[in-house]
Amino acid sequence: MTSSSPESLRSCPPIVLKSVRLYGEGDPVDVLVRDGQIAEIGERLTAPTDADSIDCEGKILLPGFVDLHTHLREPGREYAEDIETGSAAAALGGYTAVFAMANTDPVADSAVVTDHVWHRGQQVGLVDVHPVGAVTVGLDGKQLTEMGLMAAGAGQVRMFSDDGVCVDDPLVMRRALEYASGLGVLIAQHAEEPRLTVGAVAHEGPNAARLGLAGWPRAAEESIVARDALLARDAGARVHICHASTAGTVELLKWAKSQGISITAEVTPHHLLLDDSRLDTYDGVNRVNPPLREVSDAVALRRALADGVIDCVATDHAPHGAHEKCCEFANARPGMLGLQTALSVVVETLVNPGLLTWRDVARVMSEAPARIVGLPDQGRPLEVGEPANLTVVDPAARWTVKGPELASRSDNTPYEDMELPAVVTATLLRGKVTARDGKVGA
Ligand code: DOR
Ligand code: ZN
Repeated sequence: MTSSSPESLRSCPPIVLKSVRLYGEGDPVDVLVRDGQIAEIGERLTAPTDADSIDCEGKILLPGFVDLHTHLREPGREYAEDIETGSAAAALGGYTAVFAMANTDPVADSAVVTDHVWHRGQQVGLVDVHPVGAVTVGLDGKQLTEMGLMAAGAGQVRMFSDDGVCVDDPLVMRRALEYASGLGVLIAQHAEEPRLTVGAVAHEGPNAARLGLAGWPRAAEESIVARDALLARDAGARVHICHASTAGTVELLKWAKSQGISITAEVTPHHLLLDDSRLDTYDGVNRVNPPLREVSDAVALRRALADGVIDCVATDHAPHGAHEKCCEFANARPGMLGLQTALSVVVETLVNPGLLTWRDVARVMSEAPARIVGLPDQGRPLEVGEPANLTVVDPAARWTVKGPELASRSDNTPYEDMELPAVVTATLLRGKVTARDGKVGA
């Protein structure tokens, strides 16, 4: 499904990544990329004369990142993002595959929509845009979609989610897990018991109380995580938890995994770095679902990612237009940009403090997500013969985030003016350069 046409590979010259450290380990080596694959690895390779050479002195080579949770807003809200602008942000952020959530307009609840998303992503050609199919028709939580037809379509949908809303009816969720299990596809749950979050705009705690904001209790997330773990156990199915945000969710995941339940989970960069003390300004850029929690939650999430209790990082890149964010906090739409800042936030919160090595970064940003969703050509080892889906990182560089300079169509970000470590200097998709030195394409 994801292989380029032979024509596009032939038109792509060989590339030598000069003097790069694989996973940030050992001595630097040269990596020759040809015909979409890693063709040779060695010290001071003699490159073919037609090869394009990229100087990677001081840089680290990782497998291309895979994002299980992206909102690209196409079809329906292209003023906030579309597949082209979102793909550019993804390539610049080091991603070679992203999963585009189903809460579009129309909802991606049929193969007509999921196939469009796949084809449009391939046409843009910067990152593999895998469509996520909705679990229920129109995200209404009532009637299951034709998951089988979407899985069999051109988009080969392998993950289903009503993200944005929770599949809250336990019987519907049970049937979805059973159906998905038979098809060999994954259900990803936005864990939010809606009866506990009516009107909620912020984490329920001292800060929300002080600021007069309606609170979203941790139990709204944790009760669904616990319930879905039990439903997955009984159905013999797999379930994936989107954007885990509380210390309690971490404990539940630990318990469920210890019972042998097939449960996986992701954490977002913003829940790793930010907390609800930022809400003091009432700035809508900080509104997100689930909400920014307390520092103790962020610390628990970091440890859980380091320990493998949480499997991977997913951005929940969720662009909104200025008119939807620059307004009264309670009216701001939830969601924030994430694709171009994800790696830097992971380095800031986990690599620099010594909780993750660069090899671990490959695990949580590439290998684990590819495995969770069963992508055969992503998250592969950096070895000869493997597909050249690659990310080159400068670990020593620092940069200051400026929303208008990001590739997304929306430019509001909670990281505005923040200085962060690590810069993606090149991304290769099947041997083709999709981003280099901050620019899209070769
Ligand atoms: O903050 C969020 N924004 N959380 C979600 O679950 C959905 C997303 C969106 O689509 O804007
Ligand atoms: Zn969500």
